[in-house]
Amino acid sequence: MQRRDFLKMSMAGATLAGGSSALWATGSGSVVEHLKVQPAKYGLMPGKITEGMVSVFPDAPPPVLRVKQGEIFIADVENGMDDYTAMHWHGLRIPNAMDGVPYLTQFPIGPSETYRYEFTPPDAGTYWYHPHCMTMTQMALGLTGVLVVEEADDVGFDSDEILNLRDFRLNDEGQFINLYTGRGAARGGTHGTVMAVNWQDVQRSDHQAGSLVRLRVAATDTTRIYKLYFEDAVGKIIAWDGHPVDYAVPFPVSPDVPLILSPGQRMDVALRMPAVEGEVVKLMARVPGGTREMAVLRSVGSNAGRALSDLKPLPRNPVSEPDLTNPRIEEFVFGWSPEGDLPNNGFCGTLGYTFWSINRTPWAGDASEGTAALARLKLGETVVLRLRNESPNLHPIHLHGLAFRPIRSNKREVLPNMTDTALLLKDEVLEVALVADNPGKWAFHCHVIEHQKTGLAGYIEVI
Ligand code: C2O
Ligand code: CU
Ligand code: CU
Repeated sequence: MQRRDFLKMSMAGATLAGGSSALWATGSGSVVEHLKVQPAKYGLMPGKITEGMVSVFPDAPPPVLRVKQGEIFIADVENGMDDYTAMHWHGLRIPNAMDGVPYLTQFPIGPSETYRYEFTPPDAGTYWYHPHCMTMTQMALGLTGVLVVEEADDVGFDSDEILNLRDFRLNDEGQFINLYTGRGAARGGTHGTVMAVNWQDVQRSDHQAGSLVRLRVAATDTTRIYKLYFEDAVGKIIAWDGHPVDYAVPFPVSPDVPLILSPGQRMDVALRMPAVEGEVVKLMARVPGGTREMAVLRSVGSNAGRALSDLKPLPRNPVSEPDLTNPRIEEFVFGWSPEGDLPNNGFCGTLGYTFWSINRTPWAGDASEGTAALARLKLGETVVLRLRNESPNLHPIHLHGLAFRPIRSNKREVLPNMTDTALLLKDEVLEVALVADNPGKWAFHCHVIEHQKTGLAGYIEVI
């Protein structure tokens, strides 16, 4: 990367982060971040300052981090909290030691310690970062950010807009209430009381009339499954969970047929702004009892005259293609196990309940010493994971370090787009295929964090 380009990026980062930038360059071809996890406060609700948040700035949301595909990304994560932490780079297929999962890949980062993460993202796309220690607390209090891996060559958009969708559990004064309830953890999870986009009520932005915008939407909430659709938009879904779509995802334009984005998932949307100044495009969400604006993009200036057909398809990411001629099958059952022992704390927090399990074994907590892998895969083999939901609740099942294709379901047609997180419906049996091409111990869990932290977690080992 040229230094000049880098400075441009740094400035963009600074704007998004609300003033101070944590970005700087170390010569060509690398990005270094210093991320100090620390207490924060912010005006989440109009006229009110929410105290007791967690971010990497004292007064702003976690920044959008950017790196180019194939460049070195370095993040020095400093722990400015009294609790432990560890940072995970969701969706990135990087070496196991950089994956940020306490005890599986590193020791938790203690107060005032710094841990250096260093990797070269192989895949372009929209990814995100969040702690994997004190996960429930630190995520619920704010620590979720978007990580953009730019394609090595420009793909032709005029602008780029990031939407980090998540809730907060606040009272009328804008202060945090309990972050979860036992009842919620035992069922579908505890929803926030305030929905937000980039830590605000609605994201509003201006883009040139008739220009092409790349909208990157990340669902980073601990619980909420988003039901999204567009109003007055000309657009196309171009990537799903980081990877360019191979099977067209219908562009949602009605609250009755929304697009489902569950915790952990991302979508990249190509939008063509209206040609006429002042007209708007909206991203909407269906919510209990109605609908809600999430983002309003307004056309300004003269008509750039672009068309969606100007865009070339995104270049493919270098993901190995599963060979489905005779794959080995591994079975997983996601269920309800309230009789399990209480999870241990191990510096990374516990909710104090066990409700869930994978293959009838509730995860024993994050200090996993002695905990066996749920499955062992041979390096390079194709495996089909058969995911069976025995519960009435929905589970966005996430696998670290590898990408997979959903191939078959007993409940619906699936789109076999590459992903790292697949939503498992009530009573669904979903088969997903992957090539086990990245060695290590890869966390495998539900991304409803209350489920993850009360048993619905484990790991798959690739050797
Ligand atoms: Cu996004 Cu193991 O998590
Ligand atoms: Cu992950
Ligand atoms: Cu779940």
